[in-house]
Amino acid sequence: MSPLSTSAPGVRQAAFRFRCIACGDLSDTASQNFRCAQCGDLLEITYPHWKETPPEAQKLKANWRQRRLSQSAVDLSGVWRFRDLLPALDNEDQAITLREGNTPLYELPQCARITGVPRLFAKHQGLNPTGSFKDAGMTVAATFARLAGFRWVACASTGNTSASMAAYAARGGMRSLVLVPDGKISWSKLSQALDYGAVTCQLRTDFDGCLRLLQELVLRAPVYQLNSINPFRLEGQKTLALELLEQFDWQPPDHLIVPGGNLGNSSAIGKALLEMRDLGLISRLPKLSVIQAEGANALVRTLREAGGKRLISVPAETRATAIRIGNPASWKKAVHVLEATGGACEQVTEVEIAQAKAEIGAEGIGCEPASAVTLAGLKKLVKQGFVKPEESVVLVLTGNLLKDPDYTMDFHRGDLLKGTTYEGADAALKLLRRPPVVLDATLDAVIGALEQAER
Ligand code: F0G
Repeated sequence: MSPLSTSAPGVRQAAFRFRCIACGDLSDTASQNFRCAQCGDLLEITYPHWKETPPEAQKLKANWRQRRLSQSAVDLSGVWRFRDLLPALDNEDQAITLREGNTPLYELPQCARITGVPRLFAKHQGLNPTGSFKDAGMTVAATFARLAGFRWVACASTGNTSASMAAYAARGGMRSLVLVPDGKISWSKLSQALDYGAVTCQLRTDFDGCLRLLQELVLRAPVYQLNSINPFRLEGQKTLALELLEQFDWQPPDHLIVPGGNLGNSSAIGKALLEMRDLGLISRLPKLSVIQAEGANALVRTLREAGGKRLISVPAETRATAIRIGNPASWKKAVHVLEATGGACEQVTEVEIAQAKAEIGAEGIGCEPASAVTLAGLKKLVKQGFVKPEESVVLVLTGNLLKDPDYTMDFHRGDLLKGTTYEGADAALKLLRRPPVVLDATLDAVIGALEQAER
């Protein structure tokens, strides 16, 4: 039996299959690089039995609501609570969970005023156990790694995947190997991987180079790949959309806006939306839009210059290091969900990202720079008339403010864009800066600071 078989011990027989996104080949096993044995493209997970006996929408909704009253580990998880639409486990105790998901939906009144869109919300995935949306996918994929009998799991990462993987591996009694670019990764993400016990390699390359190497490694060594190429990850990340729609009492918002890096998350959310529509959980699709940093705009260019037919890779550069990716693995899946939901794809500058991040911070919420592209992108989509003022919009905030304190400090001290082509073009940022002031420890000095702030 293949270690990556749908009939591995603990996996309920015939509950799901792997399908190639290009040639449609269906199989019960996946090779260790999660690529189609026929054509080499990516795989996705499908549930053939939904065709014959589709789960009943009303029953699903009632079950999910009921489970919120339960104290069992899988019900307390905001991912496994939706397990009816995930690859099934024989025994629910097998799930490796840190009680991920259950993230809040916030109103953003100040950003609503800034953008002119009164019904503006943030789904804050940065409030997951390791501080990013990765946990929702990792709980599922790490569980299946352990069921398949692997001792080692591995990923290439711009930081958040590695933090999340290391945590879930540790909880599940597995070892983890992290490949990250040397430099251009936040210390706070790196420090998480170290504390959770990962073997951490800082490679002299970028994220795309790390991922290339990992793809070769998994064919040579018995390590289980936990990048979003792994379709179990995307199944877990689908639950963001399920939970969000439940929070909206199953009345879909008009727009969902997500940051785009390796494009796993947009693909997962889109898959969930389409499945929810097909199963009758929602009656219409929100438009799913993807926003990238101007310096890492492979999807934007792929759609504009190649009609979404072939990937245009770019040399990636942005201070939003989480999305500093030039060769996104899941680009085809992302193109599909953008087209299927009628969403848009835009790019935003470093200044626009910095401004949006400070504006989200000023709501008392905060996020990491990669998440802030959503607000910056929304401003553009409103200007273009793609988002109308009367429509409802959800920004998916993917990572916690504390994930990249260097960025935040540089911003407030006015150092963020020093020495870049954006220097001097950042007048819009001045009003948002709140640099710390060093004072003598006297009452007069502190009162002086208060008066200064009032002016
Ligand atoms: N936002 C944050 C905070 C991220 O960490 C990432 C990706 C994205 C957005 C983009 O999501 O890749 O699914 O399109 N981070 C990966 C990592 C690549 O290694 O942590 P995507």
